[in-house]
Amino acid sequence: MAATPLLELKGINKGFGPVQVLHDVSIAVYPGEVTALVGDNGAGKSTLVKCISGIYTIDSGSISFGGNPVTIHSPRDAAALGIEVVYQDLALADNLDIVQNMFLGREKKKGIVLDEATMEQMAGDTLASLSVRTVKSLRQLVASLSGGQRQTVAIAKAVLWNSKVVILDEPTAALGVAQTAQVLELVRRLADNGLGVLIISHNMNDVFAVSDHIATLYLGRMAAQVKTTDVTHAQVVELITSGRSGDMGLPPEKPAEFADAAIDITPGGEK
Ligand SMILES: Nc1ncnc2c1ncn2[C@@H]1O[C@H](COP(=O)(O)OP(=O)(O)OP(=O)(O)O)[C@@H](O)[C@H]1O
Ligand SMILES: [Mg+2]
Repeated sequence: MAATPLLELKGINKGFGPVQVLHDVSIAVYPGEVTALVGDNGAGKSTLVKCISGIYTIDSGSISFGGNPVTIHSPRDAAALGIEVVYQDLALADNLDIVQNMFLGREKKKGIVLDEATMEQMAGDTLASLSVRTVKSLRQLVASLSGGQRQTVAIAKAVLWNSKVVILDEPTAALGVAQTAQVLELVRRLADNGLGVLIISHNMNDVFAVSDHIATLYLGRMAAQVKTTDVTHAQVVELITSGRSGDMGLPPEKPAEFADAAIDITPGGEK
């Protein structure tokens, strides 16, 4: 019995001028599951995420949310659906404290003044619901937090706003071993709370530690979306580097492409 994907993209194409970046990409994100999006540098992962978050508009293809077709033309559209993206660096304002960051742009008011008590309570409850215990004070400036704590606050912010899908673009890239483990635990907890999670990572250990599904992009094409328990590290690495592994992935290159390549080999002598 397959659950309905929370978020499903089918046949997505996206180019910039003459550069076609995404070719017919399909991907599904399920509630209560972590889907890892992997692929080499330049494979199109961030571009795909920006299409989901409304920063880019897709050229063609369809997006459905909770089984219903939707259009996403702006980050506002994505946020209205409950899609939140946590970026590595852009997520938080250094000069504000944790509560101010979590409510930035969506402050609670009591009459004309800010309702600090309610905001602090809600921020604290959200962090507690995610079993975050490493943050000493909610009134600490974000500038004084460690990388892992910052990532934690950014994720908690997404949870506070009742997100249904949380997308994380390389959340552990700059973190040490212990902090990475904490952030991955938090990512797992988001899924255990019923959210759909999409996480981009270059780290195979992280991918295997936290994901239920792995989607591998190869040169802008979806090579395969597989259950994590059905594949080995080596197979995923092969999918990333060559687009296929055994009978998984993209079909073998057609002989025509070799013919094209042969034609491209022009005699030397040009200066
Ligand atoms: N705005 C743009 N205009 C033109 N080309 C772009 C633009 N954005 C991305 N590209 C191209 O699209 C391809 C995919 O880029 P993208 O950033 O999505 O890759 P990525 O998988 O996120 O890589 P990385 O792992 O390095 O972050 C690259 O070849 C890149 O040069
Ligand atoms: Mg990227």
